[in-house]
Amino acid sequence: MSGVAVTKGNPTPGTNDALVVLKGVNKHFGALHVLQDINLTISRGEVVVVIGPSGSGKSTLCRAINRLEAIDSGEIAIDGRPLPAEGRELAALRADVGMVFQSFNLFAHMTVLRNVMLGQIKVRKKDKKEAEERARSLLERVGVTTQADKYPAQLSGGQQQRVAIARALAMEPKVMLFDEPTSALDPEMINEVLEVMQQLARDGMTMVVVTHEMGFARSAANRVVFMADGRIVEETTPDQFFTNPRSDRAKDFLSKILHH
Ligand SMILES: Nc1ncnc2c1ncn2[C@@H]1O[C@H](COP(=O)(O)OP(=O)(O)OP(=O)(O)O)[C@@H](O)[C@H]1O
Ligand SMILES: [Mg+2]
Repeated sequence: MSGVAVTKGNPTPGTNDALVVLKGVNKHFGALHVLQDINLTISRGEVVVVIGPSGSGKSTLCRAINRLEAIDSGEIAIDGRPLPAEGRELAALRADVGMVFQSFNLFAHMTVLRNVMLGQIKVRKKDKKEAEERARSLLERVGVTTQADKYPAQLSGGQQQRVAIARALAMEPKVMLFDEPTSALDPEMINEVLEVMQQLARDGMTMVVVTHEMGFARSAANRVVFMADGRIVEETTPDQFFTNPRSDRAKDFLSKILHH
């Protein structure tokens, strides 16, 4: 990916810069209306932090963006192209969306290096040598070069999560989704993962990050999206959100997470 540093802020809003667009998105699980008329546009290079109470639909939103979850109505487009329901075109579009989960989800029976090579070979059709070179350079970028020949279980949680980030980046995604990437980590490992994400943000990656790490939200996010009960209740700058939340739901949520 390009290593051009961009400072936090000012992705110019406008249709050309819209990378991920959700329009009128609805999703039910049975009687539960988990995404309620979601409208959200994420610009190229923008870092959006999604926060909200448990069950508010944050993970479902991420999963809908790369079609791990089908939606009932509305539209989702990535880089101007609507997300197809299935088939080869879906696989291609999905490859444009990198995803990192709370549980690291590495392939247990493969070395770290193989984990980062696999998608490049299978999906991006790179040859082995090229895939290995890129994998090694990404492992270096996330600071786990020395672990390349180990298996995931031999790594710490923080190291595994950094490998998961490298694996996602190996696909050259246009946007990266992070769903609580540090929630399963011991406290001392949280920062090493957040630092990799901070650097990625500075490098200009478009990112959607579900997290309770308010320090990260404050320092890396261009925008905070606050969800409750399947709806976007507030979306504003981190400063505005943390110092002056407008809705009672956000005030209540912030008082709980900031004082526990
Ligand atoms: N596969 C599923 N089948 C049925 N209900 C589901 C399914 N996945 C999620 N839900 C429900 O949808 C709602 C939204 O879930 P989601 O996981 O998106 O919330 P969340 O905001 O990510 O919560 P958390 O902070 O706990 O991760 C919850 O009520 C959840 O129980
Ligand atoms: Mg979740």
